[in-house]
Amino acid sequence: MADAVVKETAAQRVERIKRERPSWSILDDIRRYAAGGFGAIPPDDLAVRFRAWGLYTQGDGRGTRGEEMPFFMMRVRTPNGLLTSAMVRTIADLSDRYARSSIDITNRQNFQLHWLRIEDVPAVWDALARVGWTSMGACGDNTRTVTGCPVAGVAHDELIDASPIAVAVDRFLNGNPDYANLPRKFKITITGCAHWCTYPEINDVGATAVRRDDGTVGFHVRVGGGLSTRPHLAPLLPAFVHPHQLPEVVSAVVGIFRDSDELRVNRTKARMKFLFLNHGWTAESFLAEVERRIGYALDAPAREAPPEGHRRDHVGVQPQRQPGRSYAGFSVVSGRITPEQLRDISALADEYGDGTLRLTAMQNILVLNVPDERVPALAAAAASVGVPIDGTPFQRGTLSCTGSEYCKLAITETKLFSIRLAQELEDRLPGFTDAIKLHVTGCPNACGQHWIADVGLQGVLLNQGGAQVEGFDFFVGGGLGARSGVARRVGFRAPAEAVPDALESLFGTYASSRAAGESFRAWSARVGDDQVRAWLAGDGTVAAAS
Ligand code: HEM
Ligand code: SF4
Repeated sequence: MADAVVKETAAQRVERIKRERPSWSILDDIRRYAAGGFGAIPPDDLAVRFRAWGLYTQGDGRGTRGEEMPFFMMRVRTPNGLLTSAMVRTIADLSDRYARSSIDITNRQNFQLHWLRIEDVPAVWDALARVGWTSMGACGDNTRTVTGCPVAGVAHDELIDASPIAVAVDRFLNGNPDYANLPRKFKITITGCAHWCTYPEINDVGATAVRRDDGTVGFHVRVGGGLSTRPHLAPLLPAFVHPHQLPEVVSAVVGIFRDSDELRVNRTKARMKFLFLNHGWTAESFLAEVERRIGYALDAPAREAPPEGHRRDHVGVQPQRQPGRSYAGFSVVSGRITPEQLRDISALADEYGDGTLRLTAMQNILVLNVPDERVPALAAAAASVGVPIDGTPFQRGTLSCTGSEYCKLAITETKLFSIRLAQELEDRLPGFTDAIKLHVTGCPNACGQHWIADVGLQGVLLNQGGAQVEGFDFFVGGGLGARSGVARRVGFRAPAEAVPDALESLFGTYASSRAAGESFRAWSARVGDDQVRAWLAGDGTVAAAS
C-alpha cells in the first residue's frame, strides 16, 4: 500500500519556504519577475517571500469570497513616521503613476499603495530609494516598521526625543539576517512622549520613556502585546532601561521570539503574546531571559503613570517645544487621502515650515516647524486642500483597516464605509464635541484595532431575509493608558446600512445623559452593556442602570 501523503500545515509550509531560501534573498528574482510578468512568479515567493519586501497580492473587492488579483499592495516602511516633503511628493507621484492614484496612511505610520503591477515594482523601488525609502520588511515574518511619537523632538511635554533610537533600532533589525526569519510578524514602538499615541500596550515591544525619582530618564518596556482574535495587553517588564541599553534590550526580546520554536507550529498562535497566553512565560521570567542574553542586570523599575489622555491624535495647530514654532495636524479620515492632497500638504510644509512632515498612528499627517506668525496663513491655505486641520470629533476619531476593497481576508468593506459613517454622524450630531474613537475593522484580524476603541465595529456577514448582507458586530468601551482594557463585545450586530442609526442613538444618548466631564468609555461602563445594547437598537425601554 502506498504511504499516505501527509499534507503540510500552513505553518509547516511557511516555515519550509522561509528555511529553503531567505525571503530577503529574492530581490534580483523580483526584478526578473517584473520582466516576465505576474505569471513568472513562483507560488512560494508570491505567498511568503514577497511579504518580506512589503508586497501582498490584493483581492478583487470581495474579500474572502473573492479571488486573488495579479496586483500588489505595497507598504512603504516609514520608521517613526518621519517624512520630508520630497518623500511625500515622491509617494504621491508614484501613486498617480503606478497605483491608480490609490494611497492610504496606515495605523502604524506607513503609506500603502495598491494596484501595483509586478512590472512596475522595480521602478517604484528605485524612486523610493532616491529619497531614502524602502518597502523592505514592511510585511512578513520580520520586525515591522518601528513606530514612535510623531511629534518626537518638538512636543513640549516629551521626556526624551526617542526618534533617533527608534530609527536606529529599525535600521539595525530591518534586513538583518539574524532577525530575518521570525515565527511571525513582530511590532515595535519606541516613544519618548507622555501620551503613548503609538500604543505600546498592543505592540510586541512597547518602550515608553519614564523619569526616575533621581531625575534620570530612561524607558520601561512592555512585551507581548497584540490584538487579532485574542487581544493581549503587553505586560510591563519590571526594569528600568537606560537609553543606551534600549537597542540591545529590544534585540534580545526579538531574539527570544526568534528562538521560540514552540511558536512555529501554528500560524494563528505564533505571535509573541502566546508565550504569555499559552506557554507559561511571565514578565519576570521574560526579564530574566533578556538579562541573560544581554549579560547584565537592568536597574529596578521606576514609578510610572500611564497617560490619562484620551485624545492622542495630534490634530490641529499645537505649540512646539521650540519657542515661536507650531505644528499643524491634518485630520485624514481613515487614512484615505489623494495624491493631489498629499502634494498640496507637502507644498505647505515647504512654504510654511521647513519641509518636515510626520505620519501618526491615527492615520493622520502633520506639518512641523511652522513659525507662529505664519500659522494663520497656513490655516487659510490649508482650507483649499480638502483635508481639515482640526476636524470634527468623528473625523478625528474614525479609523479603519484596509477592508475588502483590497484585502483578501476581509469579510466586509471598511474604508469607504467608515468615511461615510463619520460624515453621517457629523451631519446627524452636529453639536457633538467629545473625543470619540470609532474603529472599523473588516474581519476578526483586527487591523483596524476595534478592541481599543470607544466603539469598535468588526465586519460580519448577516442573514437578512435569506440573503447575506455585510454588517458589523459592536464592541464598546476599549481604551489604553491609565485604565487600559479591551472593548466588550456587547451582543449587538447591525447591517452596514443600519449602523449610523445605531450610533446616532448611542452617541446622542451619551451626549445628553453623561455626567460633566464623563468620557464615553466611563459612561458606557457605568450604564452597562444591556443599556448600551438597547440604545444601539434605538430602544430606550431598558431601565437606566443605577
Ligand atoms: C492573519 C492576518 C492578519 C492579522 C492577524 C492582522 C492583524 C493586524 C493588526 C492587529 C494590526 C493593527 C496595528 C497594530 O498592531 O498596531 C494590523 C495592521 C495592519 N494590517 Fe493587518 N493583519 C493581518 C493581515 C492583513 C492583511 C491581509 C492586510 C491587507 C491589506 C492587512 C492590512 C493591515 C494594514 C494596512 C495595517 C496597518 C499596519 C502597518 O502600517 O504596518 N493586514 N494588522
Ligand atoms: S482586519 Fe481583516 S479585513 Fe481588515 S485589513 Fe486586516 S485582514 Fe483585512
